[in-house]
Amino acid sequence: MGEYHIRTFEDRDYEAVRTILSHGIHEHVPAGCWHILRCPQNHLLLLAIFLMAYMILASLLFSCGVAAAFVVMGWMYMKGLCAAYVQAALTRDMLDIRKTYLEPKDCCFWVATSGEEVVGMVAAIHPEDPSQRGKALELKRMSVAKQHRGRGLSKALTRTVICFAQERGYQEVVLGTSMVQYAAQRVYEGIGFHKVKVEYPSLLAKLLQVYFYYYRYEIARSR
Ligand SMILES: CC(C)(COP(=O)(O)OP(=O)(O)OC[C@H]1O[C@@H](n2cnc3c(N)ncnc32)[C@H](O)[C@@H]1OP(=O)(O)O)[C@@H](O)C(=O)NCCC(=O)NCCS
Repeated sequence: MGEYHIRTFEDRDYEAVRTILSHGIHEHVPAGCWHILRCPQNHLLLLAIFLMAYMILASLLFSCGVAAAFVVMGWMYMKGLCAAYVQAALTRDMLDIRKTYLEPKDCCFWVATSGEEVVGMVAAIHPEDPSQRGKALELKRMSVAKQHRGRGLSKALTRTVICFAQERGYQEVVLGTSMVQYAAQRVYEGIGFHKVKVEYPSLLAKLLQVYFYYYRYEIARSR
């Protein structure tokens, strides 16, 4: 961690953090597609589609084409999901970072820098779930630029959020991450976060086995 420095977001970091967020999400498209293709439920679905196509078209070639179209649809679905997520983030909380994260009480946005370059980021915000408000802070927007990964930067950023929440008297830090964000899952679990919930964003997502994990870190018990 020696050459890195974590500080509060400044307006000059705006473009860099938006770019890091966008790259960090879009890179999960191949892993997401691979996940969809590997799920046994989806093998059955693919077989069912193939058999139905064969019964209707009575052609092996066309039936393979229909099954291949299903695979392409899985790819497009993951791409669309990532694009929609980035678009929503950039036009909502990340549009005015100062207003969303720096002005409200007990919220913050940090960047990790290497020299003058912004190479990572994380934020703390009040959770959307009203039952968690006042009790927990949510860790959001964790991302580290590719060439600076594997050096403990995200662990340091996560601990920054935990310390911030603890100093302000919160009992928990909560967060959500997708089923293919393997590095993030490893970081959070290594620090002491526990999986508390699995959620499917839609019926189609459930069919394709695309889901989100929700994690909780209990400050009071573990410190
Ligand atoms: C998740 C992310 C922030 C981690 O950043 P980082 O600075 O490289 O993290 P660290 O160096 O602190 O730790 C990385 C850990 O993940 C592990 N890891 C890396 N790639 C992995 C993979 N594909 N599968 C499992 N673990 C992996 C590393 O081995 C390391 O664990 P270890 O220290 O126990 O060996 C970074 O990969 C990233 O920005 N990803 C894209 C955006 C994203 O997924 N953000 C999470 C939003 S919830």
